[in-house]
Amino acid sequence: MDYRTHIAEKLNIEGVTKEEVASFLEVPPNREMGDFALPCFKLSKILRMPPVKIAENLASSFVLDENVNSCQAVNGYLNFKINRNSFAVRTLSEVLEKGDNYGSSNIGNGKTICIDYSSVNIAKPFHIGHLSTTVIGSALCKIFSFLGYKTVGINHLGDYGTQFGKLIVAFKKWSSVEAVKKDRLKELTRIYVKFHDEAKLHPELDDEARRYFKLIEDGDKESNELFELFKEITLEEVDKIYKLLNVKFDSYAGESFYNDKMQPVIDELNEKGLITISDGASIVDLEPYGMAPCLILRSDGGTLYATRDLAAAVYRKNTYNFDKCLYVVAYQQNLHFKQFFKVLELMGKDWAKDMVHVAYGMVSLESGAMSTRGGNVVLLEDVINKTIEKAYSVIEAKNPNLPDKEGTARAVGTGAVIFGALCNNKIKDIVFSYDRVLSFEGETCPYVQYTVARCNSVIAKCDGVDNYTYPEMNDEEYAVISTLAKFPDVVKASAEKYEPSFITRYALDLATVYNKFYFDCKIAVEDDSVRSFRLDITKATKIALTNALKLLGIQTVEQM
Ligand code: ARG
Repeated sequence: MDYRTHIAEKLNIEGVTKEEVASFLEVPPNREMGDFALPCFKLSKILRMPPVKIAENLASSFVLDENVNSCQAVNGYLNFKINRNSFAVRTLSEVLEKGDNYGSSNIGNGKTICIDYSSVNIAKPFHIGHLSTTVIGSALCKIFSFLGYKTVGINHLGDYGTQFGKLIVAFKKWSSVEAVKKDRLKELTRIYVKFHDEAKLHPELDDEARRYFKLIEDGDKESNELFELFKEITLEEVDKIYKLLNVKFDSYAGESFYNDKMQPVIDELNEKGLITISDGASIVDLEPYGMAPCLILRSDGGTLYATRDLAAAVYRKNTYNFDKCLYVVAYQQNLHFKQFFKVLELMGKDWAKDMVHVAYGMVSLESGAMSTRGGNVVLLEDVINKTIEKAYSVIEAKNPNLPDKEGTARAVGTGAVIFGALCNNKIKDIVFSYDRVLSFEGETCPYVQYTVARCNSVIAKCDGVDNYTYPEMNDEEYAVISTLAKFPDVVKASAEKYEPSFITRYALDLATVYNKFYFDCKIAVEDDSVRSFRLDITKATKIALTNALKLLGIQTVEQM
């Protein structure tokens, strides 16, 4: 039962729709005040009355029923108390019945959402700067699928550009197939950094790099074989990390995939008179929109990042007929997305409004910004391995007889990394610190996973009866139940705002209220009803926490 709708229907306020009234209802910060409150100032414009008067009028005509126990006007608010028992019965039976599906819905109605995320660059190290896009994007895929959307996860590989010419020059001068196969991305980074150092002294290296890049484009066999080798090595390396993080893609169509798909877009831009030539380059002038021009072709005819993104957007629309196309990319690229979305709009694509840049904050190190060339990076693989090791040593110290210590350490270690990256509002900048990632105290994933393990042990030890009558509820019990009831709304809100952190925060809140309940209320009591009720609260908590973590790509463990 949806109390908001129920209350809105009963209020039946003239000139305001039920949906609007339902959306105005808030949950007061203090439960003494009530379970729901209507801030009447939201109605004063429409009803042309002061909020205090509105609240009093509404209160005097409200008819209580078996679901709503009290309705009071307090300082311009209308406070409602619901029948907690019927609320508890409904909530618990819904969670227990739906199980793995609790929180899911079919509001997506099979509509397609493309999610461009992770989008790694070939031959570059996979460092912690790529963590946010990878885990936010992956969580959004899972969240939207849970809501009945069809999702297409796309890894728009950075596999095009002059840097590949540089890499081939560097490879020929200072490396070999054996060395690359042995040291992999480390070797590719080493020669790339060396190239930049050497090119400062020998600028002719840059000309050579341009020549090799042209050879790749012209289909030269040797250059393309090398390029494919670099690509294969990179993908094998990142795949190890994707496996650990539980991340999957439906498409790896990267920048080079669009080599033969840009011309029609360029032709269309020309036909529509959108191209201006400036210093020999083809641009779309965006001055009227207060933006720098969008570069389409360089003066030497070479295409650019935006040209590829335009072709990719058209391709995605034609291939998937998406309802929305999301780009999970750092806010550093705000301008790029604004520009290329604007160009699509100017081309008359009515679906340009369905393009969304899901921007997130930057990760830096305590020692400053990360830079591949400067060698100032923290590799994601190292971070994950360290947290797994740390988890293992904590288990060794605290619970040496735990079965499957390795599997548990893997779930806890990777969980800590993912959860840590999804814990705060995504737009916040992060300064990476090993101490923070390796801290398992406080608001962390191990705390939530531990709570699930606690539920498991309660469930294993305690026996309930069927068809018990619900006892009078205390505040601790009610706190868990009302938090449980919020989960479906939290999932929807996280999708609406593209904000997986809502789910992280939710998991922490639920774990906190459950643990308070666990310490204050003995579960294995004599009384059949009380014991069974508390056991059901425990089972429902386990379900909601497991579902929440799953949406983030985090595994739970039976024991910890
Ligand atoms: N590879 C790019 C980078 O690392 C991100 C690509 C994002 N996706 C896109 N369609 N532009 O900056």
